[in-house]
Amino acid sequence: MQALDILKESALRSIESATDTTALRDIEIAYLGRSGKVTSILRGVKDLSPDQRKHIGREANLLRSVLEDVIAEKRRVLNKQEHAERLGKERIDITQPGVKMPRGGLHPLTIIRRDIERIFSSLGFTIAVGQEVETEHYNFDALNIPADHPARDMWDTFWIKQKKDEGQRAEKERLLLRTHTSPVQVRYLEAHQPPFRIIVPGRAFRYEATDASHEIQLYQLEGLMVGEDVSLGHFKYIITTFLSELFQKEVTIRLRPSYFPFVEPGVEVDMSCVICGGKKGCSVCKRTGWVEILGAGMVHPYVFKAAGLNPKYWQGFAFGMGIDRVAMMKYHIPDIRFFHAGDERFLKQF
Ligand code: PHE
Repeated sequence: MQALDILKESALRSIESATDTTALRDIEIAYLGRSGKVTSILRGVKDLSPDQRKHIGREANLLRSVLEDVIAEKRRVLNKQEHAERLGKERIDITQPGVKMPRGGLHPLTIIRRDIERIFSSLGFTIAVGQEVETEHYNFDALNIPADHPARDMWDTFWIKQKKDEGQRAEKERLLLRTHTSPVQVRYLEAHQPPFRIIVPGRAFRYEATDASHEIQLYQLEGLMVGEDVSLGHFKYIITTFLSELFQKEVTIRLRPSYFPFVEPGVEVDMSCVICGGKKGCSVCKRTGWVEILGAGMVHPYVFKAAGLNPKYWQGFAFGMGIDRVAMMKYHIPDIRFFHAGDERFLKQF
């Protein structure tokens, strides 16, 4: 009996002094667990003499239920305490300044392309797209550049390897990576009834050595305006307005005769240098005051015929321009290879 009293005393003391639920759990096990002190006494009761058995048994059972109650109550208190502590620690101070998140940005070519699309949209042009893998027919033949035409050398071509059965297709079905966006002229003419005016932004590929001004891939902007009486005069107005708007400067242009098989006449367009203002004073225009900016011309009758339209009724102008080149001029970028080098120090400047 005395031993039970001592046990009760020490059990209550340790329960009282437990500072967290883990410690309390250890105490519970030490007294009431399967080999706990109270449990062992209860288990020994059967070996005692009958009257002792009755007495001690009752007292030991009583002790167990007292301890169970005290532990349960203590656990409630400790749980509450720990919960409050945790809430205190995890509290969010909404008056703290936020953590600044790194922010992405647009690629310079995307910025320029969107600028270009916005300006041409305001001039009544719609935006069309084509495909980067083209057939020889659309990239060359329908544009008046047959296989034996020397002008094919103007576009060094990535041809696409085709499987044997595909090789048995007609010659004009040979596949390539389009060398310019001009094939979209033909595709659009085939599918739409003029009059219309479109621009076609897109990627083109050239099989050539890279240097500061040449890349194997480049972005181009094709333009095509077709109607019954569209002339080079319209072209001059549209392109001058466009360039002035894009560079946010009064730009003048000059046309020089040039040759592309799919236009007649063909011209090369120079614009007054936006760096030195046409004053022959900088390296971008090589001290000429002019910068070559695009190729253009009146759509060749052959192209209309290839697309199933009658060149007697329709005429129009087409132009092709390098978006990379325009971006280089606008942002003073000295090397075209920066665009795809993936260097964040370059990209973060825009
Ligand atoms: N497609 C030509 C090129 O890539 C550019 C061009 C387009 C010229 C339309 C005239 C008319 O060089």
